[in-house]
Amino acid sequence: MENQTVTQARESAATDYRRSVELMNRAIGLEIATSLQYMYFHVRCEDAGYRYLARMFRNISIAEMRHIEQFADRILFLKGDVDMNPSFRARPLTDVKEMLKMAYELERSTIDNYNSWAKACSEACDAVSHRLFRTILQEEETHFDTFDTEHQNIEDYGKEYLALQSIARSRAATAHKTEDWEK
Ligand SMILES: [Fe+2]
Ligand SMILES: [Fe+2]
Repeated sequence: MENQTVTQARESAATDYRRSVELMNRAIGLEIATSLQYMYFHVRCEDAGYRYLARMFRNISIAEMRHIEQFADRILFLKGDVDMNPSFRARPLTDVKEMLKMAYELERSTIDNYNSWAKACSEACDAVSHRLFRTILQEEETHFDTFDTEHQNIEDYGKEYLALQSIARSRAATAHKTEDWEK
């Protein structure tokens, strides 16, 4: 009888981890797609001469890549398999304001998802996966804030804001020096 109870407890624990693995694989799909979307925005902004925004998209794209690795490490630790596929295809947006709007909407929905998935892990008694979602969630909140601020700047200052970035780049090139924000 005792053995049966132990077996049942183990089966229930295995089920709980399967739920965590499933949620972390969904997170990986989102992180891959988001990372590729930001890399697309990066090359577009770079090509248009918007150096500051190009750097911002590149840095956040790399941060999302790190999240993929963190979730994948945890999945493998739980003896699950990693589903390394994007959950959506990158959208070919070229308007900077639309890029920033899409970026902050992506972060907003990621924050909502991770809050609810962290709770699901907690309910399944998987404290470590719960903490991982919470930790990454904090970074997503800073991404949201960054994109939201830049979107607001364009709302407030319009094309002048973008023009200033191009002018700063040309001046730096003329002076043969690298500005802080270009490093
Ligand atoms: Fe992320
Ligand atoms: Fe993010």
